[in-house]
Amino acid sequence: MKQRRPLIAGNWKMNGSLAANQVLLTGLLDGVAQLATVACDVVVCVPFPYLAQAQASLQDSVIKWGAQDVSAQEVGAYTGEVAVSMLRDFGCGYAIVGHSERRSYHAEADALVAQKTLRVLEAGLTPIVCVGETLQERKAGLTEATVARQLNAVLAVLNTEQLAKIVLAYEPVWAIGTGITATPEMAQQVHAFLRTQLSGLNAQAAGQVAILYGGSMKPDNAAALLAMPDIDGGLIGGAALKAADFLGIVAAA
Ligand code: PGA
Repeated sequence: MKQRRPLIAGNWKMNGSLAANQVLLTGLLDGVAQLATVACDVVVCVPFPYLAQAQASLQDSVIKWGAQDVSAQEVGAYTGEVAVSMLRDFGCGYAIVGHSERRSYHAEADALVAQKTLRVLEAGLTPIVCVGETLQERKAGLTEATVARQLNAVLAVLNTEQLAKIVLAYEPVWAIGTGITATPEMAQQVHAFLRTQLSGLNAQAAGQVAILYGGSMKPDNAAALLAMPDIDGGLIGGAALKAADFLGIVAAA
């Protein structure tokens, strides 16, 4: 039994439609209803327009829902942005911040990710803070330096109480959507490093933070990854789009 309750979070990315989502959500609801016990927290992070649909479908279930990004601003003239108060209006429990696709395609800097994390916490939601190195960085021996830089920017704005409430996700960029997964040992090494970094701020809080692994996690590799002492769950992209695959990972947890 793990000290921290595992969390399996789906990141649907820019996929779906009202009709396709309904099939997926119904499949997930049926699937969890058939499990004897759900030994982990289960979340789906859907595109903004479908938050209302997720809320309507999931509100009476054990499955929670969230967004894939959020504004660093609270309210006002920020065209195209979505405030965390709006996420709360639709019952969101979670928001992903600093996903590598946001960092690379939208030039999101570490300091912006830190501000977003803070907004999410202030609103009483749980931020899923993503960090991870590129293949180039790994080959150059910069894995720890990269994730430490990304994490430390966030830690710099949090107090101990807030620290204990974040979820961290280690997502090596080279493993996202590629079918190449970090080995359990490789992932564990970085997860342990991240927890040591958290401990630098507060050892007790560091023990409470769930650190998810993300990057081509599938039903057939999930159990081995989740068996590692510092891997507390998964952030799932591709395999979150099929109910059977996502449920397979939930079952593994
Ligand atoms: P993947 O995506 O599972 O498709 O690799 C993970 C993620 O980007 O969160």
